[in-house]
Amino acid sequence: MSDFDYDVLVIGAGPGGYVAAIRAAQLGLKTACAESRETLGGTCLNVGCIPSKAMLHASEYFDAAANGAMAKMGVIVEPRLDLPAMHGQRLDAVKQLTGGIEFLFKKNKVTWLKGLATFEDAHSVSVAGQKVTAKNIVIATGSSVTPLPGVEIDEKIVVSSTGALELERVPEHMVVIGGGVIGLELGSVWRRLGAKVTCVEYLDQILPGMDADVRKEANKIFKKQGFEFKLGTKVTGVKVNGAKATLTMEPAKGGAAETLEADCVLVSIGRRPNTDGLGLEKIGLTVNNRGQIETDHEFRTKADGVWAIGDVIPGPMLAHKAEDEGIAVAENIAGLTGIVNHDIIPSVVYTWPEIAGVGLTEEDARAKYGEIKVGKFPMLGNSRAKTNHEPDGFVKVVAEARSDRVLGVWAIAVPAGTMIAQAAQAMEFGATSEDIAYTCHAHPTHSEAIKEAAMAVQGKPIHV
Ligand code: FAD
Ligand code: NAI
Repeated sequence: MSDFDYDVLVIGAGPGGYVAAIRAAQLGLKTACAESRETLGGTCLNVGCIPSKAMLHASEYFDAAANGAMAKMGVIVEPRLDLPAMHGQRLDAVKQLTGGIEFLFKKNKVTWLKGLATFEDAHSVSVAGQKVTAKNIVIATGSSVTPLPGVEIDEKIVVSSTGALELERVPEHMVVIGGGVIGLELGSVWRRLGAKVTCVEYLDQILPGMDADVRKEANKIFKKQGFEFKLGTKVTGVKVNGAKATLTMEPAKGGAAETLEADCVLVSIGRRPNTDGLGLEKIGLTVNNRGQIETDHEFRTKADGVWAIGDVIPGPMLAHKAEDEGIAVAENIAGLTGIVNHDIIPSVVYTWPEIAGVGLTEEDARAKYGEIKVGKFPMLGNSRAKTNHEPDGFVKVVAEARSDRVLGVWAIAVPAGTMIAQAAQAMEFGATSEDIAYTCHAHPTHSEAIKEAAMAVQGKPIHV
């Protein structure tokens, strides 16, 4: 008989935590998961990936009807926006998926402890006033919105991503602070539904971290769609007066300040790890200068029996990264070998077209390996994209010159998020660009552009 209530206690039921809990239970460990939200699924299912994709998907339909794309294909409709219905389908998706996790917890015999968990020591936490002990505790508390100093988020006029998912009317002018993933995805939703959208970005280009070619091309595409960009500009304050907000901004490199009026301001300048109130000091843990909990490659923290995964530890703040770490940590706790290859984590921006990448950017590959080879293929040369009237974008394959091993793949294409999976898998198997080029791809598919970009690494694409 163990002295502990549970073998494993997971704090947080986001994609990291709930997956860790389910896998631990599948491996025969007595498992509980503490969650302070009313529903399971964390940021991702409640206010992140899922509701944002529900609004992106629905607004794509509206946009296709309103911007002439459907008419071009012989389907004439005059769209009328029923925003409550659009929100209804979003809420329905969230309800079904969060309920699905509850079902999976029951099926796998994971106990859901409702409430905020705080450490008492390395093997016990209090959850809603109850002390619970466990041999292993996994911190999977996720992240929340980074505030902008001097800017108060009221979730009505000045909103975070959560408020931006729920707006009751289409703003006339939405200003997005930050040209990262959230700004571009949620800015796209409201632009499609009729808002004028201005994106103010501190850096001199949008989408930091992505391949430079991709950033430049994405900027061009968004501009063509109607986004206005103020690049190299820092927002220094937002004042709300009645139904209007006034932003003050200044050039990032110094210069005269200027103002901008909006009836909705989305603050999307990043997210920060959730560690406040966890009681880390009681288990001797500190956070690094980015507020993250450091772990070793098995996801062990410095405190005995305490592990950490997901947005609260270093690495990209992505649901699939958190999920993979959830599986790995449970396997490590069970004495198996749980591994996550952090070099091969795809990232996707779910705009129209989608933007995706995996591995190194061309710039990073050159810096790391010196000699590289790059193959690029335009979506304009892809028969399926052309037939569907989706000419924007390209695929780029970056390979090491000497070995031909693929180091990175980047894509701007309508289904780039789906296409990038094959690139990740090929890279996981150590593929060369030639391996991809000689793999038979179904015709006509957008994925043929990946094959052609790989052929372009050897200088031999067919359709350009
Ligand atoms: P979270 O999902 O943040 O879950 C942590 C959970 O822990 C929360 O439910 C929280 O309530 C709970 N918690 C915190 N502290 C305690 C405590 N002390 N006691 C009990 N419970 C606690 N990623 C993608 O990969 N694809 C996307 O398309 C995507 N879209 C996004 C869209 C938006 C608008 C946002 C905001 C994020 C998006 N993300 C996306 C990022 C993704 O949501 C996160 O990377 C992912 O949710 C992280 O998972 P996690 O398990 O680490 O943490
Ligand atoms: P982000 O880090 O992607 O982008 C923030 C942007 O804000 C940066 O470009 C930064 O330079 C800029 N910025 C910072 N301070 C500024 C200021 N004062 N004025 C102007 N610009 C400023 O952060 P974002 O978009 O908030 O998203 C947070 C995280 O959520 C992402 O990094 C990602 O991990 C996750 N996410 C993932 C999605 C996906 O996978 N499709 C979708 C949405 C979120």
